[in-house]
Amino acid sequence: MTTKIIGTGSCPGERVVTNDDLANIVDTSDEWIRPRTGIHERHLTTGLGTAGMAAEAARLACENAGISPEELDLIIMGTSSPEYCFPSGACQVQAAIGAVNAAGFDLSAACSGFVFALMTAHSFLKSGLYRKALVIGADDLSKLVDWSDRRTCVLFGDGAGAAVVTAEEDGFFEGVMGCDGKKWEVLTCQARSGGNFLTEEKPEMGYISMDGQEVFKFAVKKVPECIRQVLDANGTEMSEVKYYILHQANERIIDSVAKRLKEPIEKFPMNIQRYGNTSGASIPILLDEMNREGKLNRGDKIVLAGFGGGLTWGAILLEW
Ligand code: UT7
Repeated sequence: MTTKIIGTGSCPGERVVTNDDLANIVDTSDEWIRPRTGIHERHLTTGLGTAGMAAEAARLACENAGISPEELDLIIMGTSSPEYCFPSGACQVQAAIGAVNAAGFDLSAACSGFVFALMTAHSFLKSGLYRKALVIGADDLSKLVDWSDRRTCVLFGDGAGAAVVTAEEDGFFEGVMGCDGKKWEVLTCQARSGGNFLTEEKPEMGYISMDGQEVFKFAVKKVPECIRQVLDANGTEMSEVKYYILHQANERIIDSVAKRLKEPIEKFPMNIQRYGNTSGASIPILLDEMNREGKLNRGDKIVLAGFGGGLTWGAILLEW
């Protein structure tokens, strides 16, 4: 028993914000942002928020899969920016699309959220407990960014992507996940803090804080490693892989991973130019664009690889 993606959908934030727009609010420029990151513009949400974008991506994924939301048994949403501590965003999506028979929960793995959520859904399908699941990556990091911090605010965008997956007899699905909790401070966003009536702390919210160079070094080392791991586990050669769909954090990270794997950059599709880093949403948004552009054919071997806060990483080799 294995897991197949049978439909995808995506929903970026409603408003496009260019590098020049950001140069009006912080001391930055298109000339700085573009060569260092690959980003030209990003989409920010102005109303939909995490759950709203997720619900639209989910609706489109069900439509693309040709299923009714009532057929879903499970919804797993990878997000680090839900609107509520509880209920989960997955429950909001369940209500919005009418997936009345699905259990749902959120999963927190920062930018690795979609890969972790897909691995989790695969485990449920493989065990036979469920047959059809909706896996979502959705983030609205623009509400967690300090808009006066040029080191971070230029990097992120908002969006959601979703995939419907089913249990199938044929094909394969090989995955690996990992984390290095000792490095948790490298990339953080503090949740609402503050004590209780005994501690007299004032409640406060944190902003995204990042040691960019540490994340960069970690990503270019760990991503090729975990990709090699899933290929070896499956006995698949790199030459057999059609696409490596990587978390869209930085064009230079993707270039460097391609070089380290000695694979042509054409096998590493990118849309970071238009969306920036949408965290858990970046992989499923790219996957959806490629699916709708007809770039993926049944039987293609593709690799998905995510990395981010935690520090976390994960890679999946699957047959389309
Ligand atoms: O999902 C995972 C999320 N994180 C990542 O993927 C981050 C990975 N890391 C990176 O992509 C890069 O480290 C960054 C793009 C974030 C930063 O590039 P960098 O080459 O590592 O720059 P830096 O942080 O070393 O900063 C170099 C200079 C500094 O100025 P000084 O101190 O040398 O005068 C910064 O203050 O660039 C300055 N700087 C900026 N200048 C204009 C930092 N951000 C900006 C900015 N505009 N937006």
